[in-house]
Amino acid sequence: MTSNRKMLQAYTLPSGVELKNRVMLAPMTNFLSNDDGTVSAQELAYYEKRSGGVGAVITACANVLPHGKGFAGEIGANRDEQIPGLKKLADTIHSEGAKAILQIFHGGRMCPPELVPDEEILSASAIPAEREGSKTPRAMTEDEIQETIQAFGEATRRAIEAGFDGVELHGANTYLLQQFFSPHSNRREDSWGGSLENRMKFPLAVLESVQAAIKKHASGAFVLGYRISPEERENPGITMDDTLQLVDVLATRNLDYVHVSLSDFYQGSMREEDPTPRMEIIKERIGHIVPVIGVGSLHTPDEVEKALDTGVPLIALGREMIMEPNWVEKVQNGDEENIRVTLRKDAQQELVLPDPLWNAIFSVPGWFPIEE
Ligand SMILES: Cc1cc2nc3c(=O)[nH]c(=O)nc-3n(C[C@H](O)[C@H](O)[C@H](O)COP(=O)(O)O)c2cc1C
Repeated sequence: MTSNRKMLQAYTLPSGVELKNRVMLAPMTNFLSNDDGTVSAQELAYYEKRSGGVGAVITACANVLPHGKGFAGEIGANRDEQIPGLKKLADTIHSEGAKAILQIFHGGRMCPPELVPDEEILSASAIPAEREGSKTPRAMTEDEIQETIQAFGEATRRAIEAGFDGVELHGANTYLLQQFFSPHSNRREDSWGGSLENRMKFPLAVLESVQAAIKKHASGAFVLGYRISPEERENPGITMDDTLQLVDVLATRNLDYVHVSLSDFYQGSMREEDPTPRMEIIKERIGHIVPVIGVGSLHTPDEVEKALDTGVPLIALGREMIMEPNWVEKVQNGDEENIRVTLRKDAQQELVLPDPLWNAIFSVPGWFPIEE
């Protein structure tokens, strides 16, 4: 039995890159890269297992500078020596039939000091995150800001040379691009901080650097996406009003998509008593100009179809694709009843979830639905 689900329809992004369907692998850090940031064999096996059905794979975040390394076992796109491994990753994803998009980022103040040079963490300002045990970063100098902007462009060049179909700028989940946009982490008094316009300046300069690299190095269509987190809990923190102004600008910048990072697709405000889904507000605002990707706690094919029915053209699946690597194939083959929506403790080998990732999954109670 085959399926006529909407999610299986092809979709052409503004750059002209065609996705064979509407389901993407959400970017997920896997802790599997080698210590020098090169791609490991077990990492390739993890992606190979998950690239057969989806239209595109968005990789784990790859740091653009050693100072941006946010996790142990994180992939790097900060040196040319990493290009051969990146090429193996792009080739592996392609050989299974998906487009390959490298997520690029800098962890800023969220980096564990022991992972970065001189154990010195950097951010927009010397303000620690409001989390237990957070260290105070040093505010980046003008030179460091310029170097980081360039580094995003260089990482993009490496992605192009490695054969990726695109890059996604990780402007979400509290990392450096978000730290410059946030009035919590950015208290600068120079032209990189202060007004909303100034707080947008760094992410937009990074975007321009990446677009210049694409123009210079890509020979054909190349996907460029931008991931945002709509709100922050902190006070001061990013408000929905801030975000609407940011997405208004992003919508005019020739992006292939804006990816809205939420743990629940229908999530309301985390700042006030407003249950209106953040996704709906953003889609209404810019969805007619630039495609938006939705994500968050979607597991069954019915749930994904319902999310697409809200008018969002593309859906990313994260945890579900960890638990069910052949999710799309099962929809295609009319085998939906055999889609797993929980994680079995005896399925580690079968699901190709090497120890560092497997252990991380179990380290946060309730993060994944575990079958006892
Ligand atoms: C193990 C794991 C690692 C993640 N790493 C990243 C990451 O590197 N970059 C990113 O933008 N989001 C990351 N996320 C967030 C996911 O992309 C996604 O937004 C989130 O898990 C909600 O979607 P889901 O309910 O389908 O899992 C990660 C999530 C998980 C579960």
